[in-house]
Amino acid sequence: MARDRWPRPLLHFAPPQGFMNDPNGLVYHRGRYHLFYQHNPYAPVWGHMSWGHAVGPSLLDWEDRPVALPEQPDYMVFSGSAVVDRDNTAGFGADALVAVYTAHYRDDREAQCLAYSLDGGERWTFYEGNPVLVDGERPHVRDPQVFRYEPGGYWVMAVARADDRQVAFYASDDLKRWELLSTFGPAGCWQEAPHWECPALLELPVDGSDRTHWLLKVDVDGGAPTGGSGAQYFTGYFDGVRFVPDDPPETVRWVEAGPDFYAAQAFNHMPDGRRVWLGWMNNWRYANALPTYPWRGMLTIPRALSMVEVKGRHHLVQRPCRECYARMQPVEAPQTGRSFPLPEAGLLRLRMRTGGPWHVRFFTGTTPGVVVGYDTENRRLFLDRRAAGRTDFSPDFPGRFEALLPPDAPEELDLEILFDLYSLEVFAPQARLVLSALVFPAPGDCAVVIHDEGETIREVLLCGYADASASA
Ligand code: FRU
Repeated sequence: MARDRWPRPLLHFAPPQGFMNDPNGLVYHRGRYHLFYQHNPYAPVWGHMSWGHAVGPSLLDWEDRPVALPEQPDYMVFSGSAVVDRDNTAGFGADALVAVYTAHYRDDREAQCLAYSLDGGERWTFYEGNPVLVDGERPHVRDPQVFRYEPGGYWVMAVARADDRQVAFYASDDLKRWELLSTFGPAGCWQEAPHWECPALLELPVDGSDRTHWLLKVDVDGGAPTGGSGAQYFTGYFDGVRFVPDDPPETVRWVEAGPDFYAAQAFNHMPDGRRVWLGWMNNWRYANALPTYPWRGMLTIPRALSMVEVKGRHHLVQRPCRECYARMQPVEAPQTGRSFPLPEAGLLRLRMRTGGPWHVRFFTGTTPGVVVGYDTENRRLFLDRRAAGRTDFSPDFPGRFEALLPPDAPEELDLEILFDLYSLEVFAPQARLVLSALVFPAPGDCAVVIHDEGETIREVLLCGYADASASA
């Protein structure tokens, strides 16, 4: 019997078919954004890892392209990044797109390799001198993040020594010969985490100043507070050689309060200098069991990154990229206590007071739906997907997730909740909080209801997403 095809999300990237995990090689080049991703083109389960590919004129419109870096006879092509080699430092050609990825060999060893494209990402050549970096005897070293360190005029690679729970920093003049600069870790959540993966070292603007500060994000494939895999971060300073953290090594900080955010990476060479990342909206605990077909796995919305300094301490702030707002069209605002139709994808903006409890049910109808709300007594925002549509495909999927508002959060807080087929992302930038969660509503469960017992919701704006390609 033919299985029903699940439509892809509207605002979020998902592959046409097969499995996807990490975003890879995010880069802007010659007027186009490139999105590569860990992909099994043959089946909607992890395996045969290759780099899938999509390109687009904006951060939201993606056109599927053929697989860019297919699995090789002796290895799978694991995660990595892409850079534009404007000055031809590697000798492949001026303006070459160079992918730096991990080869995961059949015997389980890993090493870093290069591939390049001279035609803007369509055709790729594996470099004949591969691998370019083998990190001693360590078998599991992966997920190179490469960027141009302008003050030094060299390339920097951050790469995860997975079993050691360390990030190693390397430098190169030509992307081919790499010299060890320093290492960082173990630190943060390392006792609970079996492996470190997917490092991202980023210099970010500090809101309300002309300063920058550095972020080092490292994913852990177990031991996250929401269960399973998650992303932790450190703030500090990178001096071209080492990352000097602000906090003592035992300090643990998480990028997300939700269960579904992993392996994020930022676009290289953004035309306007913004730092924008996207993550894999998933969790290794159930990634291979999600009910969608014939594709499985999707990304978060692209998020603009900055830091805020509060009482001398720097914190990460994430906001939906500004491109999404331009596509949002207001629809009739739901009145409290009444059921309203929810557009397929869009944004619910709320101004809440921290004085009293409220909650919103999304995707409700035949099932209670997903509840997003505020628990006054415990000062916590929460998201509860236990009674929403399909949850039975994995015992690890149902759950209630919560986040404590920081003491300095304003009394009136603006929340932006992005919804799409199969997901909710709750942004509270003034509280430096994001909760992202997958959700698989029951067919026909497409209403939203706001409950406001303490009359603490001040303003409500509900918008539907107007897909550019649909209106064209
Ligand atoms: C993270 C990860 C990476 C690896 C890739 C393999 O989700 O495990 O460490 O490169 O996925 O698909």
